[in-house]
Parts: sequence; C-alpha cells; structure tokens
Amino acid sequence: MMTDVVPYTFRQDADYSYITGCQQPGGVAVLGRDWGLCMFMPEAKPHDVLWQGQIAGVDAALESFKADKAFPMSKLREVLPEMIRQSSKLFHNGYTATSAYTNLEAYQRAAYGGKVKDLSIYTHELRWKKSPAELKLMRESASIACQALLQTMMHSKMYPHEGILSAKIEYECRIRGAQRMAFNPVVGGGSNGSVIHYSRNDRKIKDQDLVLMDIGCELHGYVSDLTRTWPPSGSFSSAQEELYDLILQTNKKSMELCGPGTTIREIHKYSVDMLLKGFKEIGLLKNGGTNSLRYDQLNPTSIGHYLSMDVHDCSTISYDRVLEPGVVITIEPGVYIPDDFDGPDRYRGTGIRIEDEVLITETGYEVLTGSMPKEVKHIEALLNNYSRGGVEGLFNDARVVSS
Ligand code: GLY
Ligand code: MN
Repeated sequence: MMTDVVPYTFRQDADYSYITGCQQPGGVAVLGRDWGLCMFMPEAKPHDVLWQGQIAGVDAALESFKADKAFPMSKLREVLPEMIRQSSKLFHNGYTATSAYTNLEAYQRAAYGGKVKDLSIYTHELRWKKSPAELKLMRESASIACQALLQTMMHSKMYPHEGILSAKIEYECRIRGAQRMAFNPVVGGGSNGSVIHYSRNDRKIKDQDLVLMDIGCELHGYVSDLTRTWPPSGSFSSAQEELYDLILQTNKKSMELCGPGTTIREIHKYSVDMLLKGFKEIGLLKNGGTNSLRYDQLNPTSIGHYLSMDVHDCSTISYDRVLEPGVVITIEPGVYIPDDFDGPDRYRGTGIRIEDEVLITETGYEVLTGSMPKEVKHIEALLNNYSRGGVEGLFNDARVVSS
C-alpha cells in the first residue's frame, strides 16, 4: 500500500506471470505431475469489489488462464496439504512465499525435512531462451522504447529539464501501448549522469551539460532497456566527444563479440581492457592505470545482463553461461566521473552510458535497439535540424521550471 488503503500499482512476479499468465495479486499456483496447473484464486468480498472492482476468480482461472483445477483461496488449507504430502519433491518461489501456505503443517514438515527447494533455477532456465512469441514482444517493447526516446531527445533542446524529460518518456512509451515503465527512468543531467541509478530526476539541465537517459518500458510483461547520452544544446564539447567516442567504440566492439559460444563474462573482460586502455590514453587513469579500484570508480558495472520479463533477468544464471540463440542481453559500457574526481578538470562531472539490447541468433546477433541513433553526427543533426516545430511551442511555459 502507498498509504493506508491506497495501493501502489501491482506488478506480477515474472515466474508467476510466465506460468499462469495471471496479472492479479493474492493467488497461489501449484504445478504438479498428477494434477497439472492448479490455481487458488482470491475471493472478492462486496467491500473489495466496491473499492477495487471485480477480480478474476475460479471461473477465470479455468477459462482465461487454462488451469486444470481451480479453487477459491479459502479451500487452500483443505486441498494443498494433501498435494504436499503426495509429492516427493517440492519447489517454491522464495521471493513470493506467503504465509497462506508456509504456515501449513504439511509444508513446514516438508521444509524441516529438507524437501523444499527454490523453483527459480528451473523457471530461469525456461525463461532464459525466448520463444518466437516472446521475441515478438521483446522486439515491440524495444521498438516502443526507441521511438519514445527519439521523441524525448528531440524535446530536450527546448525543455532541458530532467523532470520534463522523465514525464515525456513515460508519455511517449504509454501512448505507444506500453503498460508501464520497466523501471524508474534515469534522467541525469551533468554530474547526475554519473550516478548509475540516479532517480531524483528533478534538476534543470545546464546549457553545456550532457543528459544521460536510461529507460525501458514493459509490454505485456516483456521489458526493454536502452540508454543514450547527448547534449540537449545540440553540440558535444571536445572533452565530451572524446569520452563519448571511447564509450561508443566500446559499445560497438563489445556488440561484435556477441553470438552463440561466448559469455557475458568474456564480453565484459574485453570491454574492461578496452576502457582501461582508453582511460589511460586520455589521462583519466594515472600511474599506468593498473589500480583496479580506480577503474572500478570510473565504471563499476558489468558490460551487460540478461533481459526479458525482468530488467536484470534470470539472476540465477551465471554470466559464465555460454550464450545461445534466443537469449537477449544488454551491452552497456559507461564512464561515471563525479564532480570531485581526482583527474583532468575537463572530464569532471560527466556520466556517459550507451546501452543497446542484443538478441543472440544462430549466426551472430541482432540489435533490437538499433533504430535509436548513437553516432555524434546523427545526434547533433537531429537536435539541430529536427527538434523544433509540432506542438512544442504550446508548452513554452514549462521552460521556466527551475532547479
Ligand atoms: N537500466 C537499468 C540497469 O541495467 O541497471
Ligand atoms: Mn541495463
């Protein structure tokens, strides 16, 4: 609850959503070899219907979610213990465990006997490689994010304010059909871009500063994740361009390594070597730059992560797992230089990340976010030639919003 009886928007657990298709809270789903999918569904009291509307019950479980069996939650204490007793092995979702079943004597006996294990090693295995239907949603989700970010980039010249760009990206994603953002967008102007998961998004962006936007949306349970960094003024300074070019080249070279047979860890190692070399060449790392602590201050993140229903997806699958066709990963090199970094003045207070989504294919890779520009000349041309017009003038008052 946000407060008292006022709810936050509910987001279904990805494993529950994958197995049942049901987006509603308050149920329990049990998969068993002998009974198939059995769903225990919440029952709405008249008071709940009055305040929260109709909910999906037993009929919906059978008809919409194609459960083999369905019961109201009030029957769980009767039905589930016998199912538990009949099972030689039990797996449950540790993240969403609820006292509705963990308090049952049969469950507790099984747990004390070491019979209960976590389900995620199996569900993550299933979810890791995408089916054609899932890939269709991933492509569409990425396409919406790209179109929305392009509109937001063009808006930024006239409205260089983190809050306005945050509102704009959500609007552009949702009018294209996304149900919600995949995470709170990162909209960091200047040194705020050096905070990896910056979330305040409430500052005006200074004239010569870059803005870093890390955004993604969710389409029917499948998310996108995309980052671009650009100067809302329309021109990169020479120091900004120098750093940007290093991150861009690392993004492109790391992407070229993607394909069946490699691993996220190998791509990560390659990107660290490339960035280390680049940081030394431009004087960001001194004394040969061998101090890995100093490198980690400039870039503490992995080159990427798995992506699909969750942003950091399938967390039980190691980054040493050999990539296979149908897996989607991100490639997101970056550099994060706070205002007080002990290094050349011209780079201080700069955060740059360029993130794309990459689908591993039989023969190599496909960039799902390839339609979003990232070359300096393309970004500058867009901002300087196409960022005015339309209905933008209607919102001129928004420019007075100050930091
Ligand atoms: N874009 C959010 C993250 O990768 O952490
Ligand atoms: Mn990411």
